[in-house]
This record gives sequence, structure tokens and C-alpha cells, in this order.
Amino acid sequence: MPDTVPTFTLNNGVEIPALGLGVFQTPPDETRAAVSAALDVGYRHIDTAAAYGNEGQVGEALRDSGVARDDVFLETKIWISDYGYDETLHGFEKAARKLGVDQIDLLILHQALPSDFEKTLGAYRALEKLSADARVRAIGVSNFMVDHLTALLDTVDVVPAVNQIEVHPYFAQRAVQDFGAGHGILTQAWAPIGGITFYRDSGHTSTLDDPVIGQIAAGHQKSPAQVMLRWHLQQGRQVIPKSVRPERITENFAVFDFELTDAELTAIDGLETGKRGGPEPADITLAAWGRAIPED
Ligand SMILES: NC(=O)c1ccc[n+]([C@@H]2O[C@H](COP(=O)([O-])OP(=O)(O)OC[C@H]3O[C@@H](n4cnc5c(N)ncnc54)[C@H](OP(=O)(O)O)[C@@H]3O)[C@@H](O)[C@H]2O)c1
Repeated sequence: MPDTVPTFTLNNGVEIPALGLGVFQTPPDETRAAVSAALDVGYRHIDTAAAYGNEGQVGEALRDSGVARDDVFLETKIWISDYGYDETLHGFEKAARKLGVDQIDLLILHQALPSDFEKTLGAYRALEKLSADARVRAIGVSNFMVDHLTALLDTVDVVPAVNQIEVHPYFAQRAVQDFGAGHGILTQAWAPIGGITFYRDSGHTSTLDDPVIGQIAAGHQKSPAQVMLRWHLQQGRQVIPKSVRPERITENFAVFDFELTDAELTAIDGLETGKRGGPEPADITLAAWGRAIPED
């Protein structure tokens, strides 16, 4: 186990731990324990979102942990119902209040809103303002496809530090990753161990049961989850595996003591199915997805 987590350097020089804890679908009453367990093991990055409804519990766990605020990288996301310049500035205030912090390390837009891209741009300009005012240390986006990134970069001043997208062995979105790499945008992999595939109705049920990954894992005396996390890290992606179970939180962090071979990385690349597990980013609308984020 490393004393400190390796880091990636974002395009503005800020360092982000290479691996953090995700808390999507972590119920609020289990969030405190999960975050505490992660901080105890050595995680120093938590990825939450206004839409997850558990920013408050993340903040509580951090305050109770005894770990210094400056030693933990806090990331959260503005939901689409808070897009628009003024709305997003207010969305930041809501998030900071719930997290109990003055400054957020990384604030990102949760989705592009293709049907109202002006609102998306207004939201991003608010992130730029928050960055200029040092209320956030870095800004970014999530679920932005190449066309969304292109339209954004055509208009804004600050290149997003990250694009957080679905990436796992069954769906790697190489074109989006490559576009990001070409513009200094770090890819953060959501569902890094294929969480989203566990529920998918397809030939494969779970990346965790994939025979290729299983064989590679057996060869390293590691678990399939650990192999997938290593695949991401060695290909330069930041990862945020989610678990509420302390033993898995520990397992998912124990990935800095082995190395996959080039042939193993290539074999995992070969598992691509081309099938997205999450919602189609082009289809996100306020009407279908725009539920309000509570003030408290
Ligand atoms: N930006 C976005 O739109 C977006 C979308 C989805 C997710 N995310 C972010 O990405 C994070 C991770 O994504 P995710 O939660 O969808 O998927 P994931 O991390 O790939 O998988 C999570 C699932 O795997 C299980 N699990 C965790 N560790 C395991 C292990 N070592 N062995 C076996 N099973 C294990 C978890 O169950 P237990 O909890 O029971 O262990 C949970 O069901 C989220 O928490 C969130 O922060 C972002």
C-alpha cells in the first residue's frame, strides 16, 4: 500500500490523486461510513455530485476523519437543472455549503445539455468565474462527446481539466479519450470496473466475470476489479471506483504494486463491445432529466 497515492497533474498544474472513491448510488446513510473507510485506507479523492444527494455526508465524513482538508481532493458536479451563469454560481454555493468547505478542488458540469447548449455555456462560464475567484481549484466537464467539446472549446477561455466519461473494458470511448488527450483534458473513467454493465441486458453480464480479465487476474494473484483499475492507470486515466464495502474499498486501492504487460493491456482493449451502459449523452434534456437540486 503506498503512503501517498500517485497523482496526475491537471492542465492548470493542480495535482489530482490517480484513484478516488466514487459515491454514485451510495445511499446518504451509507456515505459517511464508505468515505471514512476510504480515507482510513489512504484514498485522498472523493467524487460526488449534486445529483447524488450525498454531498452533505461526504463533508461530514471528511470533517470527522481527522484528515486535513487540504489533503483531500473534493470533486463534485453541477446538475443540469442548475445550468445558466447565475444558476451555476448558485449551484456552487449549494454544493460548498453541503460539503462544508469554502473551496472545491474540482467542479465539473455533469452533462452537456445539447438541446440548450447556450445554458451549458453559461454554466461553464460560471465555472470559469469561480476558478478566477479561486472558489474552485480546477474545472471540467462530464459526459461531453467530441462535438460537445469542440463547441465548448470554440467559445470558452479555460480548457476543461477533465472530462469524466464512461470507460471500462466493454466501452472505452477511444475517440473521446483521444480528443481529450490532444487538448490536455484528463479522462476520468466512471464505472471503471464496469459497474454500469452489471445491469446491462447484453451478451455479457459483467466485466467482473469476463474470462479474459479473470485469467489475467489469476496470473497476477489479483482480482478482476484490480486488473481493470490497473488497465486504466497504465493507460493514463484517473479512476473513481465506487463501493460501500470496506473490504472492496481496500481491495480497489491495492493496485499500485503490480504491472500489466503490454499484451495484457491489448487483450483487455480487445473486449470492446461498442455498447454504452449509461444514457446517450446526446439525448439528455431538461424535460426528461432536469429534477431540481434541493437547497439543503
Ligand atoms: N459522471 C457521470 O455521469 C457518472 C456516472 C456514473 C458514475 N460516475 C462516478 O463514477 C463512480 C464509479 O462508477 P459506478 O459506481 O457506476 O461503477 P463502478 O465503480 O465501476 O462499479 C461499482 C459497482 O461495483 C461493485 N464493486 C466495487 N468494488 C468491487 C470489487 N472490488 N469487486 C466486486 N464488485 C465491486 C459495487 O458494489 P458495492 O458498493 O456493493 O461494493 C458497485 O455495484 C461513481 O460512484 C461516480 O462517482 C459518474
